[in-house]
Amino acid sequence: MGLDRITPALPVRTERLVLRTVAPSDSAAIGAYCADPEVTRYLPFPALDEAGLAQRMERLVAGTAPVQVGDVLALAVEHEGVLVGDLMLRFEAAHGEGAPPSIAELGWVFAPSYGGRGLATEAARALVDLAFTTYPLHRLMARLDPRNTASARLCERLGMTHEAHTREDYPDRDGSWSDTSVYGLLRREWEAARSGG
Ligand SMILES: CC(C)(COP(=O)(O)OP(=O)(O)OC[C@H]1O[C@@H](n2cnc3c(N)ncnc32)[C@H](O)[C@@H]1OP(=O)(O)O)[C@@H](O)C(=O)NCCC(=O)NCCS
Repeated sequence: MGLDRITPALPVRTERLVLRTVAPSDSAAIGAYCADPEVTRYLPFPALDEAGLAQRMERLVAGTAPVQVGDVLALAVEHEGVLVGDLMLRFEAAHGEGAPPSIAELGWVFAPSYGGRGLATEAARALVDLAFTTYPLHRLMARLDPRNTASARLCERLGMTHEAHTREDYPDRDGSWSDTSVYGLLRREWEAARSGG
């Protein structure tokens, strides 16, 4: 079974947010927070210059209808008409020949000026719901540097389980090796939480 006929039902509206696909005109807003080295400290890319931003925008804008492993769904998050962050769902693995992806990775980046108000949590929760509702996924996961405590707390607020801490498996930009924390959420756990279980 392929995923080529599945398109996510967007935009998604939550209490305070609108989640929609990313447009080329979002470049200035995304570029503003992605140029901040504090924001990109634990991201797989350094603070973005013009060329880096163009490359990231190309990937985000193209991320509208993931089909196979490696594809992404990218979403812009708006609060009161302002782009405050972006989210990514990346198909990570499929099991069985011709099978659709069963594992996907979550990612999030938010403007620090909109931090500390639960907006990232609200957006990521909506992405989790969208992911399990739209795609036949069995498991969602997040990988992060254990020093990224804001991101770890976000995973916990989403009801994800801290499953692993792997040692020195990720090359940091300063030439050292970083550890990785793995968080996971299974479909049945998401279903149980939705039904109040
Ligand atoms: C990870 C990141 C999105 C978390 O941002 P955040 O502002 O901490 O997350 P939220 O918007 O969900 O806000 C949660 C905070 O607001 C508080 N809060 C206030 N009102 C809230 C509400 N209505 N609901 C939930 N939390 C609320 C929470 O207590 C929490 O604070 P705490 O962590 O000090 O306890 C942000 O730090 C970021 O973009 N970092 C840079 C990019 C990055 O590292 N991405 C992850 C790579 S793995």
